[in-house]
Amino acid sequence: MILITGGMGYIGSHTCVALAGAAHELLILDNLSNSRIDVVNRLETLCGKRPGFVEGDVRDPVVLGEIFERHPITTVMHFAGFKAVGESVERPLEYYDNNVNGTLQLLAAMRRASVRTFVFSSSATVYGDPASVPIRENSPRSATNPYGRSKLIIEDILADLHCAEPEWNIPRLRYFNPVGAHESGLIGEEPRGLPNNLMPFIGEVAIGKREFLNIWGADYPTHDGTGVRDYIHVTDLAEGHVAALNYLNQNGGLITINLGTGKGYSVLDMVQAFERTIHCPIPYEFGPRRAGDIAQCWADPSLAYELLGWKAQKGLEQMCSDTWRWQQQCRQLNI
Ligand code: NAD
Ligand code: UFG
Repeated sequence: MILITGGMGYIGSHTCVALAGAAHELLILDNLSNSRIDVVNRLETLCGKRPGFVEGDVRDPVVLGEIFERHPITTVMHFAGFKAVGESVERPLEYYDNNVNGTLQLLAAMRRASVRTFVFSSSATVYGDPASVPIRENSPRSATNPYGRSKLIIEDILADLHCAEPEWNIPRLRYFNPVGAHESGLIGEEPRGLPNNLMPFIGEVAIGKREFLNIWGADYPTHDGTGVRDYIHVTDLAEGHVAALNYLNQNGGLITINLGTGKGYSVLDMVQAFERTIHCPIPYEFGPRRAGDIAQCWADPSLAYELLGWKAQKGLEQMCSDTWRWQQQCRQLNI
């Protein structure tokens, strides 16, 4: 059985569907700080079976102790954490507590229960402002904000742990920019308030919830002056976790893998792709650069293919049409 912390959230919920499709038994631990209880009903529909769900905090050793005592957990996938870069600058202590302390509590509980397989949600943010693209896993790492630093610290904790106790199996998966939603329209990203990220924002402009998109910076050294990122469909990302588990069943150890597509698209590329999907213009205005943003960032995903046999399958068109379907569903659900 796999314990999925943060399994009610955006990436965790899609990964639950992928894991259920590969016949894994699931138990979700989530404190619902950034998700809604009814996700579990929608997961039941998509998985064909209701996943186990415990409402609780990953920093709570009592809850963790009970989970490991009562359930035959063999693997932990750790999605729970805070993820908003700007908020992390304003509330660093909360970010270090939830992300770093949460991970430490979880690892300690796993060790007490002799569970030694830990899949970690890292991020392309650990590459800071990359000196060159595409980015390989051995590129230099740095952090420009507390969120990114929390990921760097956890990556280092995991390396130290594996060095001291080599029986641990630890994939550190570095996600690039997840977008899109499950094609059923039943699950997707549910940002609270003003979305930070580009795709949810475009979706809200498209549905009429926001008047226009602010494009943060038009003077970057990119093909059209706007920032370039490696957008990956969230269900491809979810499949990357299944592939990582399959790899671990054959080989153990500490591995670090980029999960991206290897393609970079600018903000304007994304706007135009969305316009093609909805056959309507997306109003936008150019604004100043956003603090802490980088010009461009995309993955060299070849190691994921070599080691895991995984590569992203879905293109921009599907990322946009699935985002759009989900956005329309959100209006119906009043999310
Ligand atoms: P999300 O906010 O949608 O999901 C996180 C889930 O964890 C939520 O359901 C939330 O309620 C839960 N949670 C938070 N703190 C908790 C705690 N202390 N105890 C129990 N549950 C808790 O975020 P997401 O986009 O699904 O991201 C999942 C992971 O992937 C995070 O670690 C994030 O840093 C990482 N990541 C995300 C992105 C991205 O762009 N979405 C990119 C790279 C890495
Ligand atoms: N952008 C806009 N307007 C917006 C929002 C974003 O122009 O309203 C631009 C940004 O300036 C950037 C691009 O769109 O050029 C992408 O921005 P996102 O906020 O969607 O994504 P980031 O690359 O800034 O960061 C995301 C996550 C991080 C994660 C990182 C790498 O928010 O947590 O991807 O995985 F670490």
